[in-house]
Amino acid sequence: MPNRYADPWKGFAKRWDEYYTAPGRPTRDEVRIFLNYIKKSGKLAKGKKSKIKVLVLGATPELRDMLARIKADVSLIDVSKYMIREMTKLRKTRSKEHRFTGNWLKMPFSGGYFDIVVGDLAQGNIPKNKKDIFLAEISRVLKKEGYFIHRIFHMPEHQRYVNPERIFGRYSRYKYSKQLHMGMFMDLLYNTYNKKTNITDTAIMKGWISKYMYSPGKFRHPDRQISKLLERAYVMWQPFKKKWCTFPEKDIAKMMERHFIIMDNSIRTGSHRMAETFRIWSLKKR
Ligand SMILES: C[S@@+](CC[C@H](N)C(=O)[O-])C[C@H]1O[C@@H](n2cnc3c(N)ncnc32)[C@H](O)[C@@H]1O
Repeated sequence: MPNRYADPWKGFAKRWDEYYTAPGRPTRDEVRIFLNYIKKSGKLAKGKKSKIKVLVLGATPELRDMLARIKADVSLIDVSKYMIREMTKLRKTRSKEHRFTGNWLKMPFSGGYFDIVVGDLAQGNIPKNKKDIFLAEISRVLKKEGYFIHRIFHMPEHQRYVNPERIFGRYSRYKYSKQLHMGMFMDLLYNTYNKKTNITDTAIMKGWISKYMYSPGKFRHPDRQISKLLERAYVMWQPFKKKWCTFPEKDIAKMMERHFIIMDNSIRTGSHRMAETFRIWSLKKR
């Protein structure tokens, strides 16, 4: 990995389909929001001879399937060859695409090449001191008036630490679903936020949950639903070394505005509980 953050993505691929549920991956509704923003950008206008050129940051299968449906000329770039291979197995359709193994901070494309860059939860992977380089690089590869359409998770504005037991208490009362462990994971993750470093850190979470772990990956919490949710989260997030760097919405906006005009980020999906802090931003190159 080019950045300082420990990276468990490799192990993720195989477990992805069963355990990496929303909001970690885009729901059908969120893919529809991406598509709406693409349509609104005007880049798909009828009568254009050549296909629109779209770059995917990462290998998100849901976005690649959607782009195949609109017959875009798709390139994708991910630092992990393994993730590209595994995510490709999760695609529902097949289509020709140009796949690159490389770093978003220094991409092998000439300036002004793409009409649109899309990404799902990419910016959180970039350390604070590299965020501006990341955004400048996206802007560089975009054509004049090109769009960057990006799902971002931001911090709730008034995030305050609460005792993790309160979070467990809340999740013990929710009706069980396949994606409930991801919601609990996100609430615990937000609770690790350090306002000075802007880092959310799964290692802190590990400290809270390990007292309930009686053997690797097996949990005994007084509430059986919590034990199950912890077991499901553990499969995804072991060895609990992953960190992300993100900000409250206002600070994300400030950061984006150096390179882009914010066209919209107001649509809230109805497809999961974290709609407020997981939003898709339509950004136009300045
Ligand atoms: C796009 S992000 C977030 C996960 C997202 N929900 C998805 O569907 O892919 C995950 C991907 O980013 C890749 N990645 C992280 N940092 C990167 C970087 N600096 N350059 C290129 N790829 C990177 C990882 O290898 C991983 O495949």
